[in-house]
Amino acid sequence: MQYRKITVSASGVYDIIISSGLLENAADYIQSITKAKKIAIITDDNVDALYGEKLLRCLTDKGFNAVKFVFPHGEASKCEGTLFRIYSFLCENHITRSDCLIALGGGVVGDITGFAAATFLRGLDYIQIPTSLLAQVDSSVGGKTAIDIPEGKNLVGAFKQPRLVLCDTSTLSTLPEKFLIDGMGEVVKYGMIKSAPLFEILENRTIDDIMDIADDIIEQCVSIKRDVVEADEFDKGERMLLNFGHTLAHSIEQYYNYTGITHGMAVAAGMRIITEIAEKHDMAKSGLAKRLVKCMDNYSLNTKIEPTAQQLAQACLNDKKRESDNISIIICSDIGKSSAVKMAVDNFLKLLSE
Ligand code: GLY
Repeated sequence: MQYRKITVSASGVYDIIISSGLLENAADYIQSITKAKKIAIITDDNVDALYGEKLLRCLTDKGFNAVKFVFPHGEASKCEGTLFRIYSFLCENHITRSDCLIALGGGVVGDITGFAAATFLRGLDYIQIPTSLLAQVDSSVGGKTAIDIPEGKNLVGAFKQPRLVLCDTSTLSTLPEKFLIDGMGEVVKYGMIKSAPLFEILENRTIDDIMDIADDIIEQCVSIKRDVVEADEFDKGERMLLNFGHTLAHSIEQYYNYTGITHGMAVAAGMRIITEIAEKHDMAKSGLAKRLVKCMDNYSLNTKIEPTAQQLAQACLNDKKRESDNISIIICSDIGKSSAVKMAVDNFLKLLSE
Protein backbone atom coordinates (compact mmCIF):
# COMPACT_ATOMS: atom_id res chain seq x y z
CA MET A 1 0.00 0.00 0.00
CA GLN A 2 1.29 3.47 -0.92
CA TYR A 3 1.23 5.96 1.90
CA ARG A 4 2.79 9.20 3.13
CA LYS A 5 4.66 9.14 6.42
CA ILE A 6 5.63 12.02 8.66
CA THR A 7 7.60 11.38 11.84
CA VAL A 8 7.21 13.61 14.88
CA SER A 9 10.09 13.77 17.38
CA ALA A 10 8.75 15.34 20.54
CA SER A 11 8.63 13.84 24.07
CA GLY A 12 7.53 10.77 22.16
CA VAL A 13 8.55 9.80 18.63
CA TYR A 14 5.71 8.63 16.39
CA ASP A 15 4.60 8.33 12.80
CA ILE A 16 1.64 9.92 11.10
CA ILE A 17 0.57 7.70 8.21
CA ILE A 18 -1.66 9.24 5.54
CA SER A 19 -3.45 7.15 2.93
CA SER A 20 -6.83 6.10 1.66
CA GLY A 21 -8.00 2.70 3.01
CA LEU A 22 -5.75 2.56 6.10
CA LEU A 23 -8.51 1.33 8.40
CA GLU A 24 -8.51 -2.08 6.77
CA ASN A 25 -4.85 -2.53 7.67
CA ALA A 26 -4.92 -0.66 10.97
CA ALA A 27 -4.09 -3.75 13.03
CA ASP A 28 -0.79 -4.32 11.15
CA TYR A 29 0.39 -0.77 11.86
CA ILE A 30 -0.75 -1.03 15.47
CA GLN A 31 0.98 -4.37 15.97
CA SER A 32 4.24 -2.83 14.79
CA ILE A 33 4.26 -0.17 17.54
CA THR A 34 2.75 -1.82 20.64
CA LYS A 35 3.02 -4.94 22.77
CA ALA A 36 -0.46 -4.29 24.17
CA LYS A 37 -2.74 -7.31 24.36
CA LYS A 38 -5.88 -5.34 25.09
CA ILE A 39 -7.09 -2.34 23.16
CA ALA A 40 -10.00 -0.08 24.09
CA ILE A 41 -11.52 1.77 21.14
CA ILE A 42 -13.18 5.03 22.18
CA THR A 43 -15.56 6.52 19.62
CA ASP A 44 -18.86 8.37 19.17
CA ASP A 45 -22.17 6.99 17.90
CA ASN A 46 -21.85 8.56 14.42
CA VAL A 47 -18.38 7.19 13.75
CA ASP A 48 -19.20 3.87 15.42
CA ALA A 49 -22.04 3.30 12.96
CA LEU A 50 -19.59 3.71 10.05
CA TYR A 51 -16.29 2.26 11.24
CA GLY A 52 -16.58 0.89 14.80
CA GLU A 53 -17.26 -2.77 14.00
CA LYS A 54 -14.79 -2.74 11.10
CA LEU A 55 -11.94 -1.63 13.38
CA LEU A 56 -12.99 -3.98 16.20
CA ARG A 57 -13.03 -6.95 13.82
CA CYS A 58 -9.72 -6.03 12.23
CA LEU A 59 -8.10 -5.90 15.69
CA THR A 60 -9.64 -9.14 16.99
CA ASP A 61 -8.69 -10.94 13.75
CA LYS A 62 -5.06 -10.04 14.52
CA GLY A 63 -5.35 -11.49 18.05
CA PHE A 64 -5.94 -8.31 20.07
CA ASN A 65 -8.51 -8.43 22.85
CA ALA A 66 -10.43 -5.35 21.68
CA VAL A 67 -13.33 -3.63 23.42
CA LYS A 68 -15.28 -0.53 22.42
CA PHE A 69 -16.81 2.41 24.30
CA VAL A 70 -19.29 4.60 22.41
CA PHE A 71 -20.61 7.99 23.56
CA PRO A 72 -23.04 10.47 21.93
CA HIS A 73 -21.43 12.67 19.24
CA GLY A 74 -20.93 16.41 19.72
CA GLU A 75 -18.90 18.90 21.72
CA ALA A 76 -21.30 18.58 24.69
CA SER A 77 -19.83 15.10 25.27
CA LYS A 78 -16.30 16.45 25.78
CA CYS A 79 -17.00 16.79 29.48
CA GLU A 80 -16.30 15.38 32.91
CA GLY A 81 -19.34 13.05 32.73
CA THR A 82 -18.12 11.26 29.57
CA LEU A 83 -14.55 11.18 30.89
CA PHE A 84 -15.62 9.44 34.10
CA ARG A 85 -17.72 6.96 32.12
CA ILE A 86 -14.62 6.17 30.05
CA TYR A 87 -12.59 5.60 33.27
CA SER A 88 -15.32 3.24 34.58
CA PHE A 89 -15.37 1.36 31.28
CA LEU A 90 -11.57 0.95 31.37
CA CYS A 91 -11.78 -0.35 34.96
CA GLU A 92 -14.62 -2.76 34.13
CA ASN A 93 -12.51 -4.13 31.27
CA HIS A 94 -9.37 -4.40 33.41
CA ILE A 95 -7.32 -2.14 31.13
CA THR A 96 -3.76 -1.92 32.46
CA ARG A 97 -0.88 0.44 31.84
CA SER A 98 0.57 -1.90 29.23
CA ASP A 99 -2.65 -1.76 27.21
CA CYS A 100 -3.62 0.88 24.73
CA LEU A 101 -6.52 3.18 23.80
CA ILE A 102 -7.59 4.13 20.29
CA ALA A 103 -9.35 7.41 19.54
CA LEU A 104 -11.53 6.64 16.51
CA GLY A 105 -13.28 9.81 15.36
CA GLY A 106 -13.02 13.57 15.12
CA GLY A 107 -11.61 16.23 17.41
CA VAL A 108 -13.93 15.58 20.36
CA VAL A 109 -13.10 11.86 20.41
CA GLY A 110 -9.37 12.54 20.00
CA ASP A 111 -9.21 15.17 22.73
CA ILE A 112 -11.13 13.26 25.39
CA THR A 113 -9.50 9.89 24.62
CA GLY A 114 -6.06 11.53 24.76
CA PHE A 115 -6.94 13.08 28.12
CA ALA A 116 -8.19 9.72 29.42
CA ALA A 117 -4.89 8.17 28.24
CA ALA A 118 -2.91 10.93 29.95
CA THR A 119 -4.67 10.46 33.28
CA PHE A 120 -6.00 6.90 33.67
CA LEU A 121 -3.52 4.91 35.80
CA ARG A 122 -1.29 8.02 35.45
CA GLY A 123 -0.90 7.40 31.76
CA LEU A 124 -1.05 4.72 29.08
CA ASP A 125 -0.47 4.65 25.32
CA TYR A 126 -3.04 5.83 22.82
CA ILE A 127 -3.36 5.88 19.05
CA GLN A 128 -5.23 8.46 16.99
CA ILE A 129 -7.37 7.32 14.06
CA PRO A 130 -8.87 10.67 13.00
CA THR A 131 -11.91 10.45 10.72
CA SER A 132 -12.71 14.16 10.21
CA LEU A 133 -10.74 16.66 8.15
CA LEU A 134 -10.23 18.87 11.21
CA ALA A 135 -8.78 16.00 13.23
CA GLN A 136 -6.61 14.80 10.31
CA VAL A 137 -5.02 18.20 9.62
CA ASP A 138 -4.74 19.41 13.19
CA SER A 139 -6.10 17.98 16.42
CA SER A 140 -4.85 14.37 16.15
CA VAL A 141 -1.23 15.57 15.93
CA GLY A 142 0.82 17.23 18.65
CA GLY A 143 -0.49 15.73 21.86
CA LYS A 144 -2.89 18.40 23.10
CA THR A 145 -5.64 16.61 25.00
CA ALA A 146 -8.50 18.16 26.96
CA ILE A 147 -12.07 18.31 28.10
CA ASP A 148 -14.31 21.38 28.33
CA ILE A 149 -15.71 22.73 31.57
CA PRO A 150 -18.67 25.13 31.91
CA GLU A 151 -16.25 28.08 32.14
CA GLY A 152 -14.64 27.38 28.78
CA LYS A 153 -13.38 25.06 26.11
CA ASN A 154 -10.31 22.87 26.66
CA LEU A 155 -9.65 24.44 30.06
CA VAL A 156 -8.68 21.10 31.63
CA GLY A 157 -6.13 19.05 29.75
CA ALA A 158 -2.65 17.61 29.41
CA PHE A 159 0.10 17.23 26.84
CA LYS A 160 0.33 13.58 25.85
CA GLN A 161 1.69 12.54 22.49
CA PRO A 162 -0.01 9.60 20.72
CA ARG A 163 2.04 6.52 19.75
CA LEU A 164 0.75 6.55 16.18
CA VAL A 165 -1.64 8.55 13.99
CA LEU A 166 -3.45 6.76 11.15
CA CYS A 167 -5.15 9.20 8.75
CA ASP A 168 -7.42 7.19 6.48
CA THR A 169 -8.45 9.80 3.92
CA SER A 170 -11.26 7.59 2.57
CA THR A 171 -13.20 8.41 5.76
CA LEU A 172 -13.58 11.98 4.44
CA SER A 173 -16.02 10.69 1.81
CA THR A 174 -18.62 9.96 4.51
CA LEU A 175 -18.26 13.38 6.18
CA PRO A 176 -21.24 15.72 5.81
CA GLU A 177 -20.18 18.87 3.93
CA LYS A 178 -20.60 20.97 7.08
CA PHE A 179 -17.68 19.09 8.64
CA LEU A 180 -15.47 19.36 5.55
CA ILE A 181 -16.02 23.12 5.73
CA ASP A 182 -15.19 22.93 9.45
CA GLY A 183 -11.82 21.33 8.66
CA MET A 184 -11.10 23.87 5.93
CA GLY A 185 -11.01 26.61 8.58
CA GLU A 186 -7.88 24.98 10.02
CA VAL A 187 -6.40 24.30 6.57
CA VAL A 188 -6.66 28.01 5.66
CA LYS A 189 -5.08 28.80 9.05
CA TYR A 190 -1.98 26.74 8.13
CA GLY A 191 -1.60 28.67 4.88
CA MET A 192 -2.01 31.99 6.66
CA ILE A 193 0.48 31.33 9.46
CA LYS A 194 3.25 29.47 7.65
CA SER A 195 2.81 28.69 3.99
CA ALA A 196 2.13 31.11 1.14
CA PRO A 197 2.29 28.19 -1.40
CA LEU A 198 -0.45 26.34 0.50
CA PHE A 199 -2.57 29.50 0.71
CA GLU A 200 -2.14 30.09 -3.02
CA ILE A 201 -3.44 26.57 -3.74
CA LEU A 202 -6.46 27.26 -1.51
CA GLU A 203 -7.15 30.62 -3.15
CA ASN A 204 -7.74 28.98 -6.51
CA ARG A 205 -9.71 25.87 -5.59
CA THR A 206 -13.13 24.63 -4.50
CA ILE A 207 -13.86 22.10 -1.77
CA ASP A 208 -14.21 19.33 -4.41
CA ASP A 209 -10.78 20.17 -5.84
CA ILE A 210 -9.30 19.97 -2.34
CA MET A 211 -10.87 16.57 -1.71
CA ASP A 212 -9.20 15.31 -4.89
CA ILE A 213 -5.81 16.23 -3.43
CA ALA A 214 -6.69 15.57 0.22
CA ASP A 215 -3.59 13.43 0.96
CA ASP A 216 -1.32 16.22 -0.26
CA ILE A 217 -3.16 18.98 1.63
CA ILE A 218 -3.17 16.93 4.86
CA GLU A 219 0.54 16.18 4.44
CA GLN A 220 1.31 19.90 4.01
CA CYS A 221 -0.69 20.89 7.11
CA VAL A 222 0.70 18.08 9.24
CA SER A 223 4.29 18.83 8.15
CA ILE A 224 3.85 22.44 9.31
CA LYS A 225 2.37 21.22 12.59
CA ARG A 226 5.20 18.69 13.05
CA ASP A 227 7.81 21.45 12.70
CA VAL A 228 5.99 23.71 15.13
CA VAL A 229 5.42 20.96 17.72
CA GLU A 230 9.04 19.82 17.51
CA ALA A 231 10.19 23.41 18.13
CA ASP A 232 7.79 24.07 21.01
CA GLU A 233 5.90 21.01 22.23
CA PHE A 234 4.58 22.68 25.39
CA ASP A 235 3.13 25.83 23.82
CA LYS A 236 5.47 28.42 25.30
CA GLY A 237 6.31 30.25 22.06
CA GLU A 238 6.17 29.13 18.44
CA ARG A 239 3.25 26.72 18.97
CA MET A 240 1.01 29.62 19.93
CA LEU A 241 1.01 30.51 16.21
CA LEU A 242 -1.29 27.53 15.66
CA ASN A 243 -3.84 29.47 17.66
CA PHE A 244 -4.25 32.15 15.00
CA GLY A 245 -7.93 33.17 15.21
CA HIS A 246 -8.53 30.83 18.14
CA THR A 247 -8.76 33.29 21.05
CA LEU A 248 -11.84 34.82 19.45
CA ALA A 249 -13.01 31.47 18.08
CA HIS A 250 -13.23 29.96 21.56
CA SER A 251 -15.30 32.95 22.72
CA ILE A 252 -17.54 32.66 19.67
CA GLU A 253 -18.05 28.94 20.27
CA GLN A 254 -18.87 29.60 23.91
CA TYR A 255 -21.43 32.25 22.85
CA TYR A 256 -23.11 29.65 20.63
CA ASN A 257 -22.95 27.02 23.40
CA TYR A 258 -20.58 24.92 21.24
CA THR A 259 -23.57 23.79 19.14
CA GLY A 260 -24.67 26.73 16.95
CA ILE A 261 -21.33 27.04 15.10
CA THR A 262 -18.55 24.65 14.10
CA HIS A 263 -14.99 25.17 15.39
CA GLY A 264 -13.70 25.85 11.85
CA MET A 265 -16.38 28.44 11.18
CA ALA A 266 -15.57 30.16 14.50
CA VAL A 267 -11.83 30.09 13.63
CA ALA A 268 -12.66 31.66 10.25
CA ALA A 269 -14.52 34.51 11.97
CA GLY A 270 -11.70 34.87 14.52
CA MET A 271 -9.05 35.05 11.77
CA ARG A 272 -11.04 37.68 9.90
CA ILE A 273 -11.64 39.90 12.96
CA ILE A 274 -8.04 39.78 14.19
CA THR A 275 -6.70 40.44 10.67
CA GLU A 276 -9.01 43.43 10.26
CA ILE A 277 -7.77 44.78 13.61
CA ALA A 278 -4.13 44.15 12.61
CA GLU A 279 -4.62 45.88 9.27
CA LYS A 280 -6.30 48.88 10.88
CA HIS A 281 -3.32 49.29 13.24
CA ASP A 282 -0.66 48.84 10.53
CA MET A 283 0.39 45.43 11.82
CA ALA A 284 -0.70 43.70 8.60
CA LYS A 285 -0.33 44.36 4.89
CA SER A 286 -3.15 46.40 3.45
CA GLY A 287 -5.79 44.23 1.74
CA LEU A 288 -4.87 41.10 3.71
CA ALA A 289 -8.24 40.69 5.43
CA LYS A 290 -10.04 40.98 2.09
CA ARG A 291 -7.77 38.36 0.51
CA LEU A 292 -8.35 36.03 3.48
CA VAL A 293 -12.14 36.43 3.34
CA LYS A 294 -12.14 35.83 -0.43
CA CYS A 295 -10.18 32.60 0.01
CA MET A 296 -12.48 31.43 2.81
CA ASP A 297 -15.52 32.16 0.61
CA ASN A 298 -14.29 29.36 -1.71
CA TYR A 299 -15.08 26.96 1.14
CA SER A 300 -18.30 28.58 2.38
CA LEU A 301 -16.47 29.72 5.51
CA ASN A 302 -18.96 32.39 6.42
CA THR A 303 -17.42 34.80 8.92
CA LYS A 304 -20.52 36.73 9.99
CA ILE A 305 -21.29 36.24 13.67
CA GLU A 306 -23.92 37.41 16.17
CA PRO A 307 -22.01 38.24 19.38
CA THR A 308 -20.95 41.81 20.03
CA ALA A 309 -17.36 42.77 20.83
CA GLN A 310 -18.40 43.17 24.46
CA GLN A 311 -19.77 39.62 24.61
CA LEU A 312 -16.61 38.20 22.99
CA ALA A 313 -14.33 40.18 25.27
CA GLN A 314 -15.77 38.64 28.43
CA ALA A 315 -15.11 35.08 27.26
CA CYS A 316 -11.57 35.99 26.08
CA LEU A 317 -10.58 36.59 29.70
CA ASN A 318 -10.27 32.84 30.29
CA ASP A 319 -7.92 32.35 27.31
CA LYS A 320 -5.04 29.94 27.95
CA LYS A 321 -2.62 32.31 26.25
CA ARG A 322 -3.23 34.84 29.00
CA GLU A 323 -0.39 35.43 31.44
CA SER A 324 -1.41 37.56 34.38
CA ASP A 325 -2.60 40.89 32.86
CA ASN A 326 -1.15 40.15 29.40
CA ILE A 327 -2.42 38.07 26.51
CA SER A 328 -0.57 36.80 23.43
CA ILE A 329 -2.48 37.52 20.25
CA ILE A 330 -1.44 35.88 17.00
CA ILE A 331 -1.18 38.27 14.08
CA CYS A 332 -0.43 37.54 10.41
CA SER A 333 1.37 40.47 8.85
CA ASP A 334 1.14 38.82 5.42
CA ILE A 335 0.25 35.42 3.94
CA GLY A 336 2.52 32.84 5.59
CA LYS A 337 3.99 35.31 8.08
CA SER A 338 2.77 35.15 11.66
CA SER A 339 3.94 36.21 15.09
CA ALA A 340 2.68 36.39 18.66
CA VAL A 341 2.13 39.90 19.98
CA LYS A 342 1.96 40.25 23.73
CA MET A 343 -0.33 43.02 24.94
CA ALA A 344 -2.16 44.09 28.07
CA VAL A 345 -5.55 42.40 28.24
CA ASP A 346 -7.19 45.83 28.59
CA ASN A 347 -5.56 46.99 25.35
CA PHE A 348 -6.75 43.89 23.55
CA LEU A 349 -10.30 44.43 24.79
CA LYS A 350 -10.10 48.06 23.65
CA LEU A 351 -8.94 47.03 20.15
CA LEU A 352 -11.77 44.54 20.02
CA SER A 353 -14.45 47.02 21.00
CA GLU A 354 -13.25 49.56 18.39
N1 GLY B 1 -4.44 23.07 17.71
C1 GLY B 1 -3.41 23.86 18.24
C2 GLY B 1 -2.26 23.09 18.76
O1 GLY B 1 -2.22 21.89 18.63
O2 GLY B 1 -1.36 23.66 19.33
